[in-house]
Amino acid sequence: MNILLLGPPGAGKGTQGERLADRLGLRKIATGDVLRAAVREGTEQGRNAKAYMDRGELVPDEVILGIMKEALAEPECARGVILDGVVRTVPQAEGLQRVLAELGRKLDVVLLFDVEEDELVSRLSSRTICDSCQTPYSGLPPGETCEKCGGTLVRRKDDEPNAVRTRMRAYRDQTAPVVEWYRQRAEGSGTNGARLVPVKATGPVDEITERVLRDLGR
Ligand code: AP5
Repeated sequence: MNILLLGPPGAGKGTQGERLADRLGLRKIATGDVLRAAVREGTEQGRNAKAYMDRGELVPDEVILGIMKEALAEPECARGVILDGVVRTVPQAEGLQRVLAELGRKLDVVLLFDVEEDELVSRLSSRTICDSCQTPYSGLPPGETCEKCGGTLVRRKDDEPNAVRTRMRAYRDQTAPVVEWYRQRAEGSGTNGARLVPVKATGPVDEITERVLRDLGR
C-alpha cells in the first residue's frame, strides 16, 4: 500500500507517519528528514536546500523529484511506502504519479491532516527533534536525550516564528491546491485515483493512529 500524508506544518505527519510505518510494516520516506540529513552531511544537495529550509520556503521541485525517484526505486519500498510531506506542489504530485507508474505502482491513499492554525503554531513553538533519528518531541527542551536512540534533542531553525509564518503561507499558496488536485482524481472519479481520507489530527496521538488504521481497514 502506498500512502501519502498531506497536511500543514506541525499537523503530526512525522509523528503519525512513524507509527503507521511501524504498524503497517512499511518503509517511511520523509523529504524533510532526507534534506536535513543532507544538510548535516554537508552534501551539495544539503548546501543548496539549507537556505530555503531555514527561511521556511519550499525547496525546488526538481530536488524533491530526484529524492522521490531514488527512494522509491529501493527494494525495501517495493511492498509499499508511507510518504511524509513528499508532495507539496502540483508538479510534485504529477511527478509522483509518473515515478510510481514507471515502477508499475500507484498511490492508494492520501491522508489529509487537519489541525487549526493556532494549535499548529503552539505545537511548533514547543517542538524539539532528535538530531539523529529525527523523532519529534513536545515540551522537552534542547539538550535532552532521545528516548528512542539516545541522540540529542535540538530545536529546528524553521520552527522560529518568522520561518513558521513563511511555512504556513507556503502551505496555503502552494500545497493546498494539491488537495484539490487529488480530489479531482480521487477513487470513484473514474481516474483510478487514490482514496482521500480526512484525518482529524487533534487529541491523543494514539487515538489518532487507531482512527487512521480503522479508516484504512487495518
Ligand atoms: P518537514 O520536515 O516535512 O516539515 P513540515 O511539513 O513543515 O512538517 P513538520 O515536520 O513541521 O510537522 P509534522 O506535520 O511532521 O508534525 P510533527 O509530527 O513533527 O519539511 C521541512 C522543510 O523541508 C520544508 O519547509 C521545506 O523547506 C523542505 N521540504 C520538505 N519536503 C518538501 C517538498 N516535498 N517540497 C519542497 N520542500 C520540501 O508534530 C509537530 C509537533 O506536534 C511535535 O512536537 C509533536 O510531538 C507534536 N504533536 C504531534 N501530534 C500531536 C497531537 N496529536 N497533539 C499534540 N501535539 C502533537
